[in-house]
Amino acid sequence: MTASDEKFTRQTLLAVTPLTPSLFTLRTTRDAGFRFRAGQFARLGVTKADGSTVWRAYSVVSSPHDEFLEFFSIVVPDGEFTSELSRLREGDTLLVEKQATGFLTLDRFVDGRDLWMLSTGTGVAPFLSILQDFEVWERFERVILVYSVREAGELAYQELIAELMSRDYLAEYADKFLFIPIVTREEHPGALHGRITQLIENGELEQAAGLPLTPEHSRLMLCGNPQMIDDTRKLLKQRDLNLSLSRRPGQVAVENYW
Ligand SMILES: Cc1cc2nc3c(=O)[nH]c(=O)nc-3n(C[C@H](O)[C@H](O)[C@H](O)COP(=O)(O)OP(=O)(O)OC[C@H]3O[C@@H](n4cnc5c(N)ncnc54)[C@H](O)[C@@H]3O)c2cc1C
Ligand SMILES: NC(=O)c1ccc[n+]([C@@H]2O[C@H](COP(=O)([O-])OP(=O)(O)OC[C@H]3O[C@@H](n4cnc5c(N)ncnc54)[C@H](OP(=O)(O)O)[C@@H]3O)[C@@H](O)[C@H]2O)c1
Repeated sequence: MTASDEKFTRQTLLAVTPLTPSLFTLRTTRDAGFRFRAGQFARLGVTKADGSTVWRAYSVVSSPHDEFLEFFSIVVPDGEFTSELSRLREGDTLLVEKQATGFLTLDRFVDGRDLWMLSTGTGVAPFLSILQDFEVWERFERVILVYSVREAGELAYQELIAELMSRDYLAEYADKFLFIPIVTREEHPGALHGRITQLIENGELEQAAGLPLTPEHSRLMLCGNPQMIDDTRKLLKQRDLNLSLSRRPGQVAVENYW
């Protein structure tokens, strides 16, 4: 089989940066032919000592216009994939499937005024890509990133989020953006305290954003812990905010990480 017949390309790790003992970011080279939409994921492959390859889905953190690819990963204790991935170092090879996929993209919504992106843990990844792309800023009046972690030290990409709106190409949209960090297992200045679900139920999330959740104006993307997604979807349904399908456009799009 020639390289062009293969379903993946071999990319080189440019940087591996630990955030906590169980979280790290990685940056790789990008094949010139690799195309994706902000919010999509790619399957990454690592080759084990026995020569077999393990594949897992990873959301792309970097934007479609970046020359590199960036990913954000958990280390699952004894996880088949992440045990291998977390051993890789700068200069090592990572396999990247040629075809990016996923439906956590802005074309899930035909309309809407306020875009809420609700994430837990590494589920923030696709939203970072969306935030760095133009489309979201042109389409929505308000863009709210909600990012829930257990402990403050697990809040990743804080520099990127802080400097995002000072980038030349986004400066004119700066008033549209709101970042709401949530830390659930300790008090942290500047962050809300309580699960996304609790903060929706008690109204604190809307209060923090200064915006109500309404079927008319709100569009929501949910990503990360599947239980958070289930629980949040139930709450949203009670407020007439429903999954957006191609045959029936709605207000909610989701991506479960496991
Ligand atoms: C569409 C999609 C996109 C994904 N994007 C990312 C991403 O950008 N970053 C990332 O780290 N993972 C992501 N994942 C999860 C990823 O594919 C793997 O599950 C993860 O790398 C763990 O692999 P593993 O073989 O070590 O453990 P697995 O055997 O795959 O998982 C074991 C258990 O670990 C827990 N777990 C798995 N992934 C996570 C996670 N991300 N955060 C918290 N707990 C987890 C779950 O309890 C799971 O049952 C994504 C999954 C999907 C379906
Ligand atoms: N984070 C760590 O310190 C740590 C360290 C080593 C290993 N691990 C393991 O790694 C895995 C993932 O940990 P993680 O912290 O990245 O992910 P996580 O358990 O999904 O937690 C991330 C955020 O999502 C919230 N959340 C979880 N379930 C929710 C629900 N049903 N509704 C609303 N919010 C919800 C959590 O709140 P709550 O805090 O209220 O749950 C937390 O703020 C776990 O299996 C864990 O055992 C974690």
